[in-house]
Amino acid sequence: MDPKEQEEAISKILSKIKALPTLSIVVAKVIQVVSNPLTSASDLSKIITVDQALTAKVLRLANSAFYGFPFRIKNITQAVSILGFDTIRNLALTVSVYKVFTGESTSEFSHQDFWKHCVGVAICANLLAKKIKYRSPEGAFTAGLLHDIGKNFFEQYMHKEYSEVLKYARENNRSMYESEKELLSIDHTVVGKLMAEKWNLPHELAAGIASHHNPESEKEENVMAHLINVADTICKKKGIGFSGDYVQLPVSKEGRELFSLNDEGEQELMTLLDKELKEAETFVNMPQ
Ligand SMILES: [Fe+2]
Ligand SMILES: [Fe+2]
Repeated sequence: MDPKEQEEAISKILSKIKALPTLSIVVAKVIQVVSNPLTSASDLSKIITVDQALTAKVLRLANSAFYGFPFRIKNITQAVSILGFDTIRNLALTVSVYKVFTGESTSEFSHQDFWKHCVGVAICANLLAKKIKYRSPEGAFTAGLLHDIGKNFFEQYMHKEYSEVLKYARENNRSMYESEKELLSIDHTVVGKLMAEKWNLPHELAAGIASHHNPESEKEENVMAHLINVADTICKKKGIGFSGDYVQLPVSKEGRELFSLNDEGEQELMTLLDKELKEAETFVNMPQ
């Protein structure tokens, strides 16, 4: 592409991002109220229960084996007080973000495998976050679920072009990140960052989405960027789901240092990841 064509291609994509549907008003309110220290569990549940579908999904996730409560969580107020504000905010957010994308799968890109990759990255980022006592392991989980959201955009709104990118990456043994830049002039982290801005996602989530392929460029939320970067690398190495990438990279030097991951540590992490993935079936089956 010459520079002029490139500019046109980018501006076309930007206007498509601008035209994306907004997240539901309910979720916008949820994001707003959980950051207010005066909000009570009943305030938050009043907002969520306005949306029946959201309420049902949040309850299904809260009752899944992943959280492993020995009793049934019957209503949102109970879910909020047991799981906490952050977990409920993040569940509501994830459900709502993925509702925007409902396209059909293609042979190159199965939505089920892609979502499994996202759940794997979420669980792995959460495990790493707990290992280093990161302030928000829950945020790391959600950033993992959403990190490749830019790919959903490409897949749904530029379906034909994106099939070409997937094919190009496979045939030339290039990463998706590089292939997108080469063929579309813009990659899924930039698209994801713009989506996060449009939807006013919390800053730490936006950073995980925007910088997971170049964590060293992230200044404010550097740890989050490395959490997602390493979790992504490990899930690709282990073949958990599929995100379009055939290229496998080793864990970065910074990542190995930050999370004290020698070969043995990596093995331990993978064993834990396996165990948690088995319990996360409700998450894996969520988008249907
Ligand atoms: Fe990515
Ligand atoms: Fe990924």
